[in-house]
Amino acid sequence: MDLSRGVAATVHHVLPPDTNHLGALFGGVAVAWMDLTAGLASMRLCKHTTVTAAIERVDFQIPIWGGDVAVVEARVVSVGRTSMRVKVDMYRENLQTEEKTLCTSGIFHMVALDENRKVTPVFPEEG
Ligand SMILES: CC(C)(COP(=O)(O)OP(=O)(O)OC[C@H]1O[C@@H](n2cnc3c(N)ncnc32)[C@H](O)[C@@H]1OP(=O)(O)O)[C@@H](O)C(=O)NCCC(=O)NCCS
Repeated sequence: MDLSRGVAATVHHVLPPDTNHLGALFGGVAVAWMDLTAGLASMRLCKHTTVTAAIERVDFQIPIWGGDVAVVEARVVSVGRTSMRVKVDMYRENLQTEEKTLCTSGIFHMVALDENRKVTPVFPEEG
């Protein structure tokens, strides 16, 4: 099963509306950016709209601060009949050195929908 198209990345500048009272990226905003990127990865793979069925787990390991550049990378890691598990990692990128530090990671479950918003196989030939 070729999952290589099931990848996506988004880049975000962390600005004041997205930070909490400590000046760090607000967790809910981080999850929204991760959800968005997981959706893109899953839609690229199945060529359909997808919706988020579940967020299995999100670990916030290192804060991302206001002014930082956040890079979110998503990759479909397994496929059911109509659902996909997407691993999502969020990094802080140092613009000078281009070094990326893993800050947050999670697993998102996305489900493929057809034009009638009914669940549909990820790979129709196998559905
Ligand atoms: C997700 C949703 C489409 C599933 O619909 P459903 O009628 O339960 O569909 P099914 O029971 O046929 O399940 C479809 C697939 O989703 C998976 N799934 C459903 N609920 C799940 C959950 N909570 N966690 C993980 N996978 C789930 C099923 O295992 C199945 O996977 P498979 O086909 O690969 O085996 C439906 O619950 C829904 O529309 N939820 C709201 C989605 C939403 O609004 N998301 C936020 C905005 S994007």
